[in-house]
Amino acid sequence: MRTNVAIIGAGPAGLLLSQLLYQQGIDSVVLERRDREYCEQRQRAGMIEHGVVELLRDAGVGERMDREGFAHDGIELRFDGRSHRVDFRELTGRSVMIYAQTEIVKDLIARRLADGGQVLFEAEATAVEGVEGDHPRVRFTHNGVEEVLECDVVAACDGFHGIGRATLPSGVARTFEKSYPFGWLGILANVAPSCEELIYAHHANGFALHSLRSNEVSRLYLQVPADTDPAAWSDERIWDELATRFALDDSDWTLKRGPITDKAVTPMRSFVTEPMRYGQLFLAGDAAHIVPPTGAKGLNLALRDVSLLAEALTTWYGKGDTALLDSYSDSALRRVWRAEHFSYWMTSLLHVHPDSDEFDRRLQLAHLSHIADLPAAATHLAENYTGLPRV
Ligand code: FAD
Ligand code: DHB
Repeated sequence: MRTNVAIIGAGPAGLLLSQLLYQQGIDSVVLERRDREYCEQRQRAGMIEHGVVELLRDAGVGERMDREGFAHDGIELRFDGRSHRVDFRELTGRSVMIYAQTEIVKDLIARRLADGGQVLFEAEATAVEGVEGDHPRVRFTHNGVEEVLECDVVAACDGFHGIGRATLPSGVARTFEKSYPFGWLGILANVAPSCEELIYAHHANGFALHSLRSNEVSRLYLQVPADTDPAAWSDERIWDELATRFALDDSDWTLKRGPITDKAVTPMRSFVTEPMRYGQLFLAGDAAHIVPPTGAKGLNLALRDVSLLAEALTTWYGKGDTALLDSYSDSALRRVWRAEHFSYWMTSLLHVHPDSDEFDRRLQLAHLSHIADLPAAATHLAENYTGLPRV
């Protein structure tokens, strides 16, 4: 089998890359080790930056997002029993979209298959070879048969546990990592959201986030210790703890409760690999970097990486010009490190570190009050949250 661009992974990054290349007449094959249903059901992120909303529209997959997604002009910060709204539209002129990663993945798979695209499910890449030269190959198993995909370029969009990053020789790659002693217990619940905009809550017991998926489905997260078994949290305990962390003084606001349909713990880490290119192998999305979820940058970064990569490949195939391919890693990493800093900053601002004391908590409250009181401080949050224009 032969193609122009061999794409490993049918997550949001791999699928969008395939779609963007198709729009430019460049052939690709997507190899995905899981089945289609698994890819379409895996619960993950939900917030899309302003510029990424436009990217998805331009890619021809914005129709259902515009119909069913929720445009949000701000978020609510809750701390010290009070509430403060950060108005993105007023501070930056931009807004964000709440539309689940699972829906983006469904839209992209449907679009690629409708256009005759090759997305091979249950096709696991087992080796990436020859990327130092002009004839790379990806070995994979499909339906129990070993096959070879020959190509010009390999795009590793295969997530944190994929094989793309492992292909970089150890003398070439450097990694930078920070892990956190807490994670997020995330739930989906069949209940109308208790708020119109997202609530990011700082509480002495830990962080909580209220998000949504539709008018009937709420998505909520609780900070929990890193090694938490979700089974140890009964539904009642989850709702009680969420209600405690979102509680407001002097308000009759209440958290609506309903049946929980999904419950999982996400570990939190910061991770970056440099460079994001080796020969004809390019890394994109979680294959190259991870951010803690506070601020919802993981999905957005993954989609922006492939936008950059698609443009570079289009210039190369169209004009034989390698300049954008050569600058891909540096350009992507500038944005990655900005997002790494923002995600770390939001995480540190809102979570309770197990080693922290009352002094640390007072500092967090002073910082949150500063954001509530000073538009310049709120603008820093709003600019980063809605997504900085392309660097
Ligand atoms: P992925 O979505 O991981 O896709 C990679 C794909 O490659 C997978 O389908 C995998 O099966 C496939 N693959 C791997 N190895 C191979 C192989 N050898 N051969 C073939 N296929 C392979 N971000 C947020 O912003 N907010 C959140 O709330 C949030 N929650 C998250 C919860 C969890 C449990 C996880 C894991 C991530 C979460 N993220 C969140 C991060 C966000 O979902 C990711 O940043 C995003 O999925 C990155 O997309 P991707 O396409 O790069 O990688
Ligand atoms: C969601 C996840 C996030 O990490 C975040 O910061 C905002 C929203 C979500 O899943 O809806």
